[in-house]
Amino acid sequence: MIEKRKKKGNSMIRDIQEVLFDEAKLNQIVTRLGAQITEDYRGKDLLLVGILKGANVFMADLMRKIDLHVQLDFMAVSSYGMSTESSGVVRILKDLDHGVENKHVLIIEDIVDSGLTLHYLMDYLTARGALSIAACTLLDKPDRRKVDVAINYVGSPIPDVFIVGYGIDYAEKYRNLPYIASLKPEVYA
Ligand code: IMP
Ligand code: MG
Repeated sequence: MIEKRKKKGNSMIRDIQEVLFDEAKLNQIVTRLGAQITEDYRGKDLLLVGILKGANVFMADLMRKIDLHVQLDFMAVSSYGMSTESSGVVRILKDLDHGVENKHVLIIEDIVDSGLTLHYLMDYLTARGALSIAACTLLDKPDRRKVDVAINYVGSPIPDVFIVGYGIDYAEKYRNLPYIASLKPEVYA
């Protein structure tokens, strides 16, 4: 199957430098996080707020590992545009559908990098009256932090490498890769 796709002109596989987290590893991480969240939120009404579009795949897998009654909502924010560097300006592209008053909110992120997006979202949801706010990210790049943010659940720290896949994009591409990978340098050229 992989061999066949390699020969096609628009295959994603030829752009991959290295697979950092394969499907088995991702499943292991998500299972662990789901068990921790289940334990910590027992007896509470939990609202998962997924940050689109990057957290889409992670959230779909994570919620099925949480054995509680949860509600879902989504926000879309933009801080990157088509670049690989955060601009530092967070814009809300899609707001929550419902209020968060008196709810325990868990923000679901794909990656925390500078921390600017998460910092902004935490302030925003606090201002909207959430009972508690916590954050869960699949990946964390601690070396890149520009603002201090407390992250309650981290799938895995990663070094300062630009990665794609499992929902995460470069210029809106590669979100549908089933694993997390780095790209060959010529892809950015
Ligand atoms: P922050 O505001 O700098 O923390 O940016 C967080 C957001 O930047 C994440 O939700 C991702 O959408 C994006 N991002 C950060 N690092 C990467 C990466 O390596 N690949 C793709 N997107 C990234
Ligand atoms: Mg992105």
